[in-house]
Amino acid sequence: MASTVTVLDDPVAGVQLAALRDERTTPEHFRHHARRLGSMLALRAVADLPAERGTVRTPLGDAPAIGPGRTIVAVPVLRAGLGLLGGVHDVLPTALVGMIGLERDAETFQARRYYFKVPPLDGAWVLVLEPMLATGGSAADAVQALDAEGAEQVTVLSVVGTQQGIDRVTSQNPGVRVVIGAIDPQLDDNRYIVPGLGDFGDRLFGTPH
Ligand code: URA
Repeated sequence: MASTVTVLDDPVAGVQLAALRDERTTPEHFRHHARRLGSMLALRAVADLPAERGTVRTPLGDAPAIGPGRTIVAVPVLRAGLGLLGGVHDVLPTALVGMIGLERDAETFQARRYYFKVPPLDGAWVLVLEPMLATGGSAADAVQALDAEGAEQVTVLSVVGTQQGIDRVTSQNPGVRVVIGAIDPQLDDNRYIVPGLGDFGDRLFGTPH
């Protein structure tokens, strides 16, 4: 299966993205906009989810009803990915949750996995919550680990990325999908996305950079 990349370039998502990028946005409001954009990314990611069909009785008779035909598992990459989780649950309340802890070595910039706990993934649709797809190293590692657990479909949900980051994730993981708010032009010497929005985790939690 070929990888796909979907950019949410509609004005409704654009309002949330602009607020997240704005340097004046406080952590309180940053969390709010991250949650909203998380919902929008999640809805796009499951737009073609196989459906389970049934019926529901209305006061006037039976009506067809559909619901998710697969287990959905959201996997935030700690810590920034937690900012999207509430929004995913707002629209997919039954989603199970796994966690991946990845730490970037300050000198080599390589991702080291220090935590991995996920529910059974056999046949599941997995949403990897990785807000900043900079080099793509963390997301590529996360997708590989989740694929190995038997996931049927893995989709990376990101707020901002670079083409380089997307290429790394898709080339290392054929079949992976990426749903993203925007693709920015470059990385700086510290591997931050430019113009990006700064450090997502710091802005989300109010930690000094
Ligand atoms: N992680 C962030 O939080 N921001 C970037 O720009 C890159 C990686």
